[in-house]
Amino acid sequence: MADATALPTPAGIALRRPTEADYPGMVRVIDDWWGGRTMDALLPRLWLQHFTGTSWLAETTASELAGFLIGFHSPDRANVAYCRLVATNPNLRGRGVGRALYERFFDDARRAGRHEVRAITWPGNRPSIAFHRALGFQVEVGPGSQNLYGTPAQPGYDFDREDRTILVRTI
Ligand SMILES: CC(C)(COP(=O)(O)OP(=O)(O)OC[C@H]1O[C@@H](n2cnc3c(N)ncnc32)[C@H](O)[C@@H]1OP(=O)(O)O)[C@@H](O)C(=O)NCCC(=O)NCCS
Repeated sequence: MADATALPTPAGIALRRPTEADYPGMVRVIDDWWGGRTMDALLPRLWLQHFTGTSWLAETTASELAGFLIGFHSPDRANVAYCRLVATNPNLRGRGVGRALYERFFDDARRAGRHEVRAITWPGNRPSIAFHRALGFQVEVGPGSQNLYGTPAQPGYDFDREDRTILVRTI
């Protein structure tokens, strides 16, 4: 198991647990960080009230928000940690901030005896799929999978209308 202090940390970036006080700053940027899609409904305040102990926030030395990963350890699947949302500041992409957030999430999960990390993404979100693949996730292919936007996905996975690619990584 990695020593937590040895986990990758991009220059000029600090990582810490988020708190509820971070919430307004996060919802303010979320639509912009997702390229203008309306995403704020994915992040009601409850995530910053009940899931901060398994989530991470990255910030610059000037305390500018650099990224966040909201996740939890599944109450129903004792082996699984689940990443609900991960995003980084568009001005700081490609510098390892997303990887640094996920490596800490993996480390927490290992320490809690979890061996699998799961996430879902829209199959048209190619950067997200490339990012997750670079981090060692595989696209789950199962009954009902179809190739959508070039990636195996489950049509109508959420709300009976939203297509999702299922991402799985063993840790
Ligand atoms: C996806 C996202 C989180 C990546 O964050 P990031 O800080 O730029 O990622 P990193 O710099 O840590 O990159 C980690 C790896 O992913 C790869 N990667 C990241 N973005 C990529 C892209 N757009 N295309 C191809 N590869 C990409 C990097 O090359 C890197 O690989 P390496 O470590 O092997 O060199 C960021 O683009 C983002 O916030 N997107 C909008 C929100 C979103 O779609 N979130 C995911 C769905 S919940």
